Amino acid sequence: MNDKKWSEQGFIDEPTPANTDIKAEIKRMCKEKNAVIMAHYYADAEVQDLADFVGDSLALAQKAATTDADIIIMCGVHFMGETNKILCPEKKIIVPDLNASCSLAESCPTDAFEKFVKAHPNHTVISYVNTTAAIKSLTDVVVTSSNACQIVESFPKDTKIIFGPDKNLGGYINRITGRNMLLWDGGCHVHERFSVEGIKQLKQQHPNAKVLVHPECREEVAEIADKVGSTAALLKYSINDDANEFIVVTEVGILHEMQKSAPQKTFIPAPAEDIESGCNECNYMKLITMRKLYNCIKHEWPTIEVDSEIAEKAVRPINRMLEISKQLGL
Ligand code: 13P
Ligand code: SF4
Repeated sequence: MNDKKWSEQGFIDEPTPANTDIKAEIKRMCKEKNAVIMAHYYADAEVQDLADFVGDSLALAQKAATTDADIIIMCGVHFMGETNKILCPEKKIIVPDLNASCSLAESCPTDAFEKFVKAHPNHTVISYVNTTAAIKSLTDVVVTSSNACQIVESFPKDTKIIFGPDKNLGGYINRITGRNMLLWDGGCHVHERFSVEGIKQLKQQHPNAKVLVHPECREEVAEIADKVGSTAALLKYSINDDANEFIVVTEVGILHEMQKSAPQKTFIPAPAEDIESGCNECNYMKLITMRKLYNCIKHEWPTIEVDSEIAEKAVRPINRMLEISKQLGL
């Protein structure tokens, strides 16, 4: 890849060939190159439908660690591609648009977090997977929202813990586990916008609907939930629960898989602040389009690279998470 414009913009958005079945062509190129497409539940519906594997952050990391593909196309955000690269340094990891960042990962700059860690010696550092590789390299064990409470509970009660970067997830874990972890003051711009007011307005229209909330939401929002959990946990709950209506308080992309898994049920996306303000989208996830997906497979670019010294340190807490999750059957 040596086109200067592509390098600067971080993606390839060339028009796709006319009179061609783009989805079939993507599948053909993947087969030829032994590439696998993975997508997060927040990716666009048509991207999810084309992917070989769709999952939450934990499932995506677990899948990357075991795939025998030579190329992983990660239709998600940058830190997800980095996690894959750290786990599989010999593979080519591609994220179709390198601008697909994460406000939560960005809310934790390396220098400031390193100072915070140094200021609190004798603390175990637990980091959410929504972090850069550099933050993971300063971490003892990584968690996702699927395993965070269980991993924290696997440490003795008197362990002093620093948790970053999401203060809402950290606060939720503290409340559930009765711990008193020191929290980094970070957050996700999508999940922080959900309000009790908006959910109550929807509840008036759908009094029987159950409320499903991601733990990156603020405490008062989590408090009115019927279920708090990772995207995978919310999906499972919506399939198994007897209710027929659900108000979904997380990024709107998850509704696609929910609706596919339980077509007879009704899923209502929670609005950003109030009922007038529209639904919540992660603008970073939505950068991954079919056109960029086609081009990134064709040109095998843009690839994710991680400094080898950082990767060597960052792989340990990720592997530790995968090992504990395996032991716990997660
Ligand atoms: P999950 O691990 O629950 O899929 O969440 C990832 C994420 O980015 C939530 O905002
Ligand atoms: Fe990051 Fe929030 Fe987007 Fe999840 S929804 S990827 S935490 S910015």
